[in-house]
Amino acid sequence: MSQKDSNQETISNILGKKNSQAQYPDIRMRRLRSTGWMRDMIAEHRITPSDLILPLFVIEGENQSQPIESMPGVNRQSIDLAIKTVKQAYDLGIPAIALFPAIDSKLKNDKGTEATNPDNLICRTVQAIKKAVPDIGIITDVALDPYTTHGHDGLIDEQGYVLNDETIEILRKQALVQTQAGADIIAPSDMMDGRIAAIRSTLDESRFINTAIMAYSAKFASAFYGPFRDAVNSDGALKGDKKTYQMNPANRRVSIREVQLDINEGADMVMVKPGLPYLDIVRDIKTTFQMPTFAYHVSGEFAMLKAASENGWLDYDACLIETLLSFRRAGCDGILTYGAIDAAKILVKA
Ligand code: PBG
Repeated sequence: MSQKDSNQETISNILGKKNSQAQYPDIRMRRLRSTGWMRDMIAEHRITPSDLILPLFVIEGENQSQPIESMPGVNRQSIDLAIKTVKQAYDLGIPAIALFPAIDSKLKNDKGTEATNPDNLICRTVQAIKKAVPDIGIITDVALDPYTTHGHDGLIDEQGYVLNDETIEILRKQALVQTQAGADIIAPSDMMDGRIAAIRSTLDESRFINTAIMAYSAKFASAFYGPFRDAVNSDGALKGDKKTYQMNPANRRVSIREVQLDINEGADMVMVKPGLPYLDIVRDIKTTFQMPTFAYHVSGEFAMLKAASENGWLDYDACLIETLLSFRRAGCDGILTYGAIDAAKILVKA
């Protein structure tokens, strides 16, 4: 048989069969995996530094950097050093950072009042970063846990129950002082009902119409937050758990309702948290709403990766990039990750 005839036969073999019947040797799936450039050319998903958001922990002082034991490679930094990290992130193409404070325990009380102080650590950090790196986006966290002696995200009653509506009144003020300081995106992570609408109207009344809201909409009561609570010094203090406001990890469908409500209340972007163990939720939400959808690759997930790689059991760089790609594949528009700078360096080099 001539070459032409055999090609002809191959084509009619393939065309003559239903797609599902086409098979080896007419079909060779490995053909498009045979070279690096080919794999690259047909890749369905990509990860770039512009998909990443860097969370940062800030502390008082000057030239202060405190390692966080449960998060190797991550430090709490004073504002001057945080600015250097932010510049580095900006130079690598990371579009935004998310700030979290570790405040002096003397400033904590049961109502978390320091959260609404316009001169608090977060507000000063926002102002300083805006001045030093004006073109990076600044995301601030709205929740009371770094400020309360009991470590909860809101006010509590005598039984320790977290009060919804009373908490919202404080969150409004917290969001407003952060916005006045220059925050670009307000990210409520507290899971109180109705807080998105309350914050939106507070911002609009003060004419902050372009300050966006990234809602932690589907936030689960997860054990993967352990190292973070360490980082903001809220761990030892936390009385009980957060199961009366954060979602039950057993649930899937209720995340659709949570996201729907936040969108109705004015959320511009939504988030799922934690990340890897909840990629099914990310996919559900992206498919259902087609909204800008983010996920938080949280402290415990990062710690697992670090711990295994420090033991020589996993290749950190390769697993980090694979992890971040899996978020993109699930439908994420962006990922908050403590590995943002590491990943961006790898991607810029590649
Ligand atoms: C609390 C908050 C938490 C995280 C971000 N904001 C912890 C919690 O809900 O207890 C966790 C982030 C991480 O684990 O990396 N408002």
